[in-house]
Amino acid sequence: MSVTPDTLSILQSHDPAVFEAVQEEERRQLRTLEMIASENFASRAVMEAAGTVFTNKYAEGYPGKRYYNGCEPSDKVETLAIERAKQLFGAVHANVQPHSGSTANQAVFFAALQPGDTVLSLSLAHGGHLSHGHRVNMAGQFFKIVNYGVAQGTEQIDYDEVVRLAREHKPRMIITGGSAYPRLIDFAKFREIADEIGAVFLTDMAHFAGLVAGKAIPSPVPFSHIVSSTTHKTLRGPRSGMLLGDAEWGPKLDKAVFPGLQGGPLVHIIAAKAVAYGEALRPSFAAYSQQVIANAKALGEVLVEKGLRLVSGGTDTHLVLVDLTSYNVTGKDAANALEHAGITVNKNAIPYDTRKEWVTSGIRIGTPALTTRGMKEAEMRTIANWVAEVVKDPTDEAVQKRVRAQVDEMTGNWPLRAEDLA
Ligand SMILES: Cc1ncc(COP(=O)(O)O)c(C=O)c1O
Repeated sequence: MSVTPDTLSILQSHDPAVFEAVQEEERRQLRTLEMIASENFASRAVMEAAGTVFTNKYAEGYPGKRYYNGCEPSDKVETLAIERAKQLFGAVHANVQPHSGSTANQAVFFAALQPGDTVLSLSLAHGGHLSHGHRVNMAGQFFKIVNYGVAQGTEQIDYDEVVRLAREHKPRMIITGGSAYPRLIDFAKFREIADEIGAVFLTDMAHFAGLVAGKAIPSPVPFSHIVSSTTHKTLRGPRSGMLLGDAEWGPKLDKAVFPGLQGGPLVHIIAAKAVAYGEALRPSFAAYSQQVIANAKALGEVLVEKGLRLVSGGTDTHLVLVDLTSYNVTGKDAANALEHAGITVNKNAIPYDTRKEWVTSGIRIGTPALTTRGMKEAEMRTIANWVAEVVKDPTDEAVQKRVRAQVDEMTGNWPLRAEDLA
């Protein structure tokens, strides 16, 4: 089962060293269980579009208003992407040019704020994202960042704290969304708080955009002034970013992306985004996104049976955040042991973690990629048992070796994408 497009046969003779690295990565993706919550397997059509001649084209500007000539096909493909994104998310305005999730967020900061303005966002330590203003990030250096967190008991967003901090600090922008928050977010509540103080409300749906597209969870679009996203996580498109805006913010976002922040758009990636949005509009994607959540719940249930604790007590989305304290194991050791066993996850801080961020007390496990392979609850239960066995004693290499063999056997039966069986 090959995941590489035919053009790689040219790469093989043209540049064997790069070809070999690609082959190695292909083998890795096929023969391990990819459970990094932010990863997925884009379709062959998405990958093909990303590898087209559009990579050669400069198309600074927007459809119908370009700085370069020869942009008619680029206009066509970007318009397709914009219209499909708007339809998919019920948005008034879409900008499909951000190169990544981080640049999409940078464009929002540029559009909505002056340097030094105050921003209220979810703390990274409680599941937020670097680009929402962590001190090591550009946003943290140029803006005054105030963080809200999750409540210690429920480990869910503490809306009382959000209200209190909003009233106290009067931020110009409030951000929600993050990279390790397994629960639904009350977007209406956030908008109410933003409206009370006259703040801009940004939802970063990078992690859960695919679940929104498949209507498996509520959409932030009706409640947010601006929605930012990546396109490569649950949404299963190419590695990239996007922005949605209401009637007021749409044109401001366009100006902030170009000429504000970026030069020429990656038209080949925009073509691949158009393909991905088209795929996400199909009924099969709704079924996929529901299965992603069902799989995360099944995985979590078995981990709990095995004596592990899930942050917030469970999940409503595509990921579980596992507290390893009951096993007296660190996230770092657990993730490394799992990698040896052929299961790829990442260490992750849990809320109020007492360990340093490169050690942590938790691991984050996601189901989007394995669900794309066609795996369902039964496979998740088997995998959860393996995870628990390996994590129980990360120094036990015999267990890792045995699980590695079982993973090898399992992955041999599943293509990278269920569509490859059709
Ligand atoms: C919530 C959130 N926003 C933004 C990003 C940044 O996306 P990118 O890696 O494409 O810059 C991520 C990536 O993990 C994310 O989880």
